[in-house]
Order: sequence, then structure tokens, then C-alpha cells
Amino acid sequence: MAATIIDGKEFAGRVRAQVARHVDRLKSDHDITPGLAVVLVGTDPASDVYVRSKGKMTREVGMKSVEHRLDAATSEAELLNLIETLNAAHDIHGILVQLPLPRHINEDLVINAIDPAKDVDGFHISNVGMLSTGQKAMVPCTPLGCLMMLRDHHGSLSGMNAVVIGRSNIVGKPMAQLLLGDSCTVTIAHSRTKDLADVVRRADIVIAAVGRPEMVPGDWIKPGATVIDVGINRLDAPERGAGKTRLVGDVDYESCAAVAGAITPVPGGVGPMTIACLLANTVTACCRANGLSEPEGLTA
Ligand code: GUN
Repeated sequence: MAATIIDGKEFAGRVRAQVARHVDRLKSDHDITPGLAVVLVGTDPASDVYVRSKGKMTREVGMKSVEHRLDAATSEAELLNLIETLNAAHDIHGILVQLPLPRHINEDLVINAIDPAKDVDGFHISNVGMLSTGQKAMVPCTPLGCLMMLRDHHGSLSGMNAVVIGRSNIVGKPMAQLLLGDSCTVTIAHSRTKDLADVVRRADIVIAAVGRPEMVPGDWIKPGATVIDVGINRLDAPERGAGKTRLVGDVDYESCAAVAGAITPVPGGVGPMTIACLLANTVTACCRANGLSEPEGLTA
């Protein structure tokens, strides 16, 4: 049977609509407008596209969007000063510093300077600790989006075998914590894992987050398993014309879709969920800061 395609674009639209309804309510009932500040240092073209897109979608759901674009030569001290100002700003509920930062700036220092309550990326060491100890945390956006899609597709994830391929701080590790929180039996696989094929074949849920194009073939997938592809890799596609490219994930879509029970496509799977979850986290942070009830279904 053909796999169900989990449509992240459509799902993200629903999440944004829910966020927008909550923003309306915060404005009308409490005279509060959630605000998100995004900080970009330098002119990396990919980061510039992300930041633009974040700003546009923030405004579309009715929130306040503030962008700080700083010169690549900005010092660490200047960036830390800006973060201190944003931490103290009452109209800013979420702060995101776009990564990567220029090499002369210590990323960990900057991330941990953000007020954990405003850390909508969920990268602050306090939020990492809160998540791993099962306390109320700000949760990284990409894993949160994956969790939402899994819960929507399966209902309960309790007792399922989940394999996360990739051990990054942004996706792999928090994803494993979230799955553990939903009572999955979790394996984190990585570049040194022995017999990765065998490990993946035992999984009811496969999360591929390694950043290697099409590395998971269909014959690694247990029949009926759910495959969540976090990879976004751009490959040359001369067959489409000179200079053309195409986006592929970390799984070989055609062969995996032939075996899986459900699968996320690339593009249109996990990608659109990441910004939707950033908006969801900003509303959540705003509600928590004001002692108000959080939107249902938008948190872990
Ligand atoms: N750069 C690439 N992905 C991310 C992300 O999720 N958050 C931040 N802050 N920077 C990124």
C-alpha cells in the first residue's frame, strides 16, 4: 500500500491559523501583542532568506516583528548588549539569534545570554535541562514540529520504537528527549553507529536528521513505519536545465515511500513546520510571561 504523505505545508498553515486566533484573543481580551525579535549578524544569503521569511510570517499572524541586522564585524560585546536590551524589553516575548554567527563570536555565550523565558529557539542551557528533566521548557522548533506531526498521525506514540539518526543539539538530541517524553523507546544513531541499517529496520518511527542527501534507502525501512525527513539538501539538477538545482531530504523518498506507512516529503514536510513552531513558541512565551493559559496543542 502506498505511504500516507504527511503534508507539512498544510499542517503548518493550520498551526499558523491557530497561533493567529490566539494572538487575536491576546489583543482583544488583554491588550497584549506578542513580539518576536530576530537578530542577524552578517550577510549570509541563506540566513537572510530565513530571517525575511520569519519576519513576514510573524506579521501575518498579527504579532509584532522586530529585526536587528548587524554588520558582520559587530563585536561579541555589542551583540551581548543588544540581547540585554531585548531581555529587558516588555514588548518582546521571543528572541532569536540566527545561527551561524561569525567566527569571532562565541555562540554558546550568546545563546546563554538570552533570557530562557524568551528563548524561542529552546537552545539555552536551562531549556535543554528543563526538557531533559521533563519540566516546562521552550522546545526547539524543528523537533517540536516533528512531534506535532507524529502525534497528529498516530495519536499516542507510547511504546513505539523510534530511531533518531543524527545527534545535533538543534534537532537530534531534543527530538530524542521529546520522543522519550511521549514514552517511545528511543535510539540515537550517528556516524559511528554500527550496522545502522539493522538499527533503522527495528524502528516504527524513523527521524532522519543527518544532513546527508538521500542516505537512508527504502530497504532500511520496516514495512509500515513512519518516516520523518528533516534533511534539506540542495543538489545540482542538470536534467532540469543548466544551473538548476533540486531539494532532497536525508532519505531516498521514492524507495522509502514504497515501504513506509507514512512519510514527510522534501520540500513541504518538516521545513514549513519549523517557522510555524517558532510562532507557536512566541505565543507560548508571551502567555507564560503574562501568567495566561497557553494555547492547546502548540507545546510539547
Ligand atoms: N539557523 C538554522 N536553523 C536555525 C534555527 O532553528 N534557529 C536559529 N537561531 N538559527 C538557525
